[in-house]
Amino acid sequence: MQFFSSNFKLGILGGGQLGKMLLYDCKRYDVFTKVMDPNKNAPASKLADEFVIGDLTNYEDVINFGKNVDVLTIEIENINTDALEFLEKKGKKVFPSSSTLKIIQNKSKQKYFYKQHNLPTSNYKSYNGIKDIIDDYNIGNIQLPSVWKSAKFGYDGKGVKIIKNFNDIKSLPNVQCLIEEKVNIKKELSVIVVRNPNKEERCFPVVEMEFNPDSNLVEYIMCPAKISNDLEEKAYEIALKTAQKFDSIGLLAVELFLTNENEIIINEVAPRPHNSGHHTIECCMTSQFDQHIRSVLNLPLGSTEIKIPGIMVNLVGENKTEGDVKYNNIEKVFNTPGVSTHLYGKKKSRLNRKMGHITIVNNEIEEAIKIGKKIKNLIKVTT
Ligand SMILES: Nc1ncnc2c1ncn2[C@@H]1O[C@H](COP(=O)(O)OP(=O)(O)OP(=O)(O)O)[C@@H](O)[C@H]1O
Ligand SMILES: [Mg+2]
Repeated sequence: MQFFSSNFKLGILGGGQLGKMLLYDCKRYDVFTKVMDPNKNAPASKLADEFVIGDLTNYEDVINFGKNVDVLTIEIENINTDALEFLEKKGKKVFPSSSTLKIIQNKSKQKYFYKQHNLPTSNYKSYNGIKDIIDDYNIGNIQLPSVWKSAKFGYDGKGVKIIKNFNDIKSLPNVQCLIEEKVNIKKELSVIVVRNPNKEERCFPVVEMEFNPDSNLVEYIMCPAKISNDLEEKAYEIALKTAQKFDSIGLLAVELFLTNENEIIINEVAPRPHNSGHHTIECCMTSQFDQHIRSVLNLPLGSTEIKIPGIMVNLVGENKTEGDVKYNNIEKVFNTPGVSTHLYGKKKSRLNRKMGHITIVNNEIEEAIKIGKKIKNLIKVTT
């Protein structure tokens, strides 16, 4: 099939920053794009060849959108999977598949998948609600501290809690959930895998995430991760095996924990472009976005090799009440060599909302980190 400068249409469900960054590469290839998002001002709205407003969780909306495109992909997981399944049955190419999405949309099912396929992950138990948890706690089946997770996402944006005592348990929301063993994490790592229908597969270099100890938000993504070659190989092996078990097409970001005992285990996966791969635009031969498009169109994949080491800093809203965004001091980073600024085009800033990111490349990763720390203190996203 001819994709370039033709009548071919690539459909993307979701129009956030991940969609916007996919569109840069679609434009470069002159692939016609159609995007659906509920928000008329979504970051991808102005860059898509066609943009429609629709509810991603609504059966009819997803079917009507999908009917009129040739290949369908996503940039957010919260999509109506029954509609995707219907479209697949009608012969539509949908990547990731509805069956992969169904597993990933439910953290209990996702954990069960890892156990079923002998993929390393922490131990867990699923619960229907708070009463089941309390009953299990009362008979001594729950060790504290543990990590509670809502099975389905979108729960007030607060889907993960560390439970330390009985009071923490009593104040949990009454929803389907799981309780996981609390892992002693030395580092959080991520490997993004890409596979295409031709059975080509590649891994992007392992990255390391540094968290802010106060807010527990990702502060930096470092590429490459500072880990031994053995651990690096282990991370690739686990990530590839995970992608193969899902038989994933497109990107699969595999979030990993390196434990204090030097084990590598899976935390969770995302079948789409991922925050831990933004630096690939500047740091790798082929970016995650370019690679995703190649994959869903079954084109040859590109090299994932590092061109230059780098780090990525998220720009998140620091204002408590929502208002028109201001990027304070942003112009001050423009004359620093190796610094690339990405603003997503969201008009309103609110606390911890991802508004943009900055990539800093340098032959010396330590130098990139130094510059990144300065930038983090300098730029304030407020109203
Ligand atoms: N079993 C665990 N033991 C210790 N810490 C954990 C565990 N599970 C999760 N965490 C911590 O909580 C963070 C968020 O967990 P998880 O990735 O499952 O949730 P999430 O809501 O999908 O987060 P995000 O959207 O930020 O990826 C992890 O990055 C890690 O720091
Ligand atoms: Mg996560």
